[in-house]
Amino acid sequence: MCGIVAATSNRDISQDLVRMLRCLDYRGYDSAGISVFGADNTIDLRKKAGPLSDLEELLAEKPVMGHSGIGHTRWATHGAPSDENAHPHMSSDGRVSVVHNGIIENYRDLINDLEAVGVECVSQTDSEVLAHIVSLFLKANPGASGKDIVKHLCRKVSGAYAIAILRTDKPDEVIGIRHQCPMNFVCTDGLAAISSDISSLIEYSRDIQVLKDGQAVVMTPNHHDVFDLEGNPGSSVHVVADWSVDKVEKDGFDHFLRKEISQEPEALAAFIKSAASNGEDLQAFLAERDIRKVVFLACGSASYSGVFGSIFARHLGLPMDISSEIGSEFRYLPPHVDKHTLMVAVSQSGETADSIGALEHAKSAGASVLAFVNVVGSSIDRLADMSVRLAAGPEVAVPSTKAVVNQFAASSLIISLLADKSPNSVTLWAQKCGQLAEAIAAIIAREDELITIAEKVAGHQSSFALGRGLDFAVSQEMALKLKETAYMHCEPMFAGEFKHGSISLIEYGMPVFCFVSDKSVRRKSISNIEEIKARGAQPVIFDASLEEDPDLKALGDYFNIPALGDPWSSIALLAVTHLVAYHSGLLRNTNVDRPRNLAKSVTVE
Ligand code: F6R
Repeated sequence: MCGIVAATSNRDISQDLVRMLRCLDYRGYDSAGISVFGADNTIDLRKKAGPLSDLEELLAEKPVMGHSGIGHTRWATHGAPSDENAHPHMSSDGRVSVVHNGIIENYRDLINDLEAVGVECVSQTDSEVLAHIVSLFLKANPGASGKDIVKHLCRKVSGAYAIAILRTDKPDEVIGIRHQCPMNFVCTDGLAAISSDISSLIEYSRDIQVLKDGQAVVMTPNHHDVFDLEGNPGSSVHVVADWSVDKVEKDGFDHFLRKEISQEPEALAAFIKSAASNGEDLQAFLAERDIRKVVFLACGSASYSGVFGSIFARHLGLPMDISSEIGSEFRYLPPHVDKHTLMVAVSQSGETADSIGALEHAKSAGASVLAFVNVVGSSIDRLADMSVRLAAGPEVAVPSTKAVVNQFAASSLIISLLADKSPNSVTLWAQKCGQLAEAIAAIIAREDELITIAEKVAGHQSSFALGRGLDFAVSQEMALKLKETAYMHCEPMFAGEFKHGSISLIEYGMPVFCFVSDKSVRRKSISNIEEIKARGAQPVIFDASLEEDPDLKALGDYFNIPALGDPWSSIALLAVTHLVAYHSGLLRNTNVDRPRNLAKSVTVE
């Protein structure tokens, strides 16, 4: 993961680097650092393990100033999060500083090569080698240009990388290299800046240059030169950013996570409005293609919306092959994909590396790609043939909530449109989906009941989440949210499959979350609950019935939501999973907004 920035200007840019990093800390919050070319003609480095605020404190104690510099927020892949492993990394002679996002796959070989010429790495990262390689190259080739450095470095390293380089022999120049990790830049009057994410560049210019994969840029305050990794001239992609970066505030809530759960109804309403107004375009997009197969493609929570969509398609009896695939597996064991395939790539951030890789693979095999993205202008947004905007607004908490609700709603939209090609199908979908927002608001208003449930389960380290049909996707979301938000192990399973082995793990009092909103399998689901109850489990039952079901109520803790019918009740139950996980996390004293070991956007494979 990680986020990188660089800037060069006629004025001090140290605060600019920190400000830009603030927009990137969703990409990693293990450590952060900046290095600038200082007044004494050396590179000044400040870096610190911990969140960006720790770096800010360090900078307040020991400020730096300089006209050019680079910066980094880290999500550790190689080497623990520590001051030493934080970026930027410096060459031994202090003449070169680098930041890196991605993974250098041959770094062990490169370390051996460096050791053979007496250069020792001081960190445990795969990135430090880059600084040493550039410095050795400059020693052997005094006066080498930025282009020469890029060519040399990229011939030596393999893997995925976005790299920014600062060096003392050309102090007003910064170099950016893009190979399978995003990189964008702006050039304004007297300031040039590079960033992994467009959002941190908007304050300088809305005219954004997106480097294509396999390109590099060498920038001074008033000039930039784009070329490929062999040094051949090229041009980047010009994008006009027509969105604004919202202020990131908790608005009176204790946590961003809780704020974002409370925003679920309004975010869903915004999505319905946006989808309804773009419905004709979406229908035209589908009509233009001879679609015989649909593959939902995503990672994590986003992938559950694909599971949900594929099961909804079976509910409707759609005569089509519809499956849900996981991003990290797709490229390496691909299903058959051709020009009759529609890939639906689902991603809140639009930057998930595994999903991007899968999308590129599907495109190269001739498939059409429809994206459900929340971040406008993100890589997946740009790569797709068409995008459906999730319109959930910015998500700051690492666990995704309001965007997941909209991802499920988007899956219901696409399946509804594939099943019904009539002109008013979008309107019909919007009407049905409309009640959902109200149902979710009603669930959130009953938060106290869900706190009581959280109090009962939070003391348990292990649990199961069971559902049949559409509810299986909801049980997946319950499990993942409990893991990341409350650090509780929870395994999602098809309720009917449970008796084929996993039921042996049931011990007296073990919580088992049971979702029974899918009407088509209700009786079966209830039998499965009886089975686990008989073995001593503590069922926590989430129902969606017109009236409370006394039989179910007798089986365990029971929470009934307004019956909306299939598949809408299952989507509404997502809010239940989010609140139970949030409160379990609070009770277990976890960092619910920034769970350990995670980052908001997973930009490495
Ligand atoms: C879970 C969560 C992750 C993401 C996954 C995909 O709360 O946030 O599982 O859903 O990493 O991320 P996007 O949607 O950005 O592709």
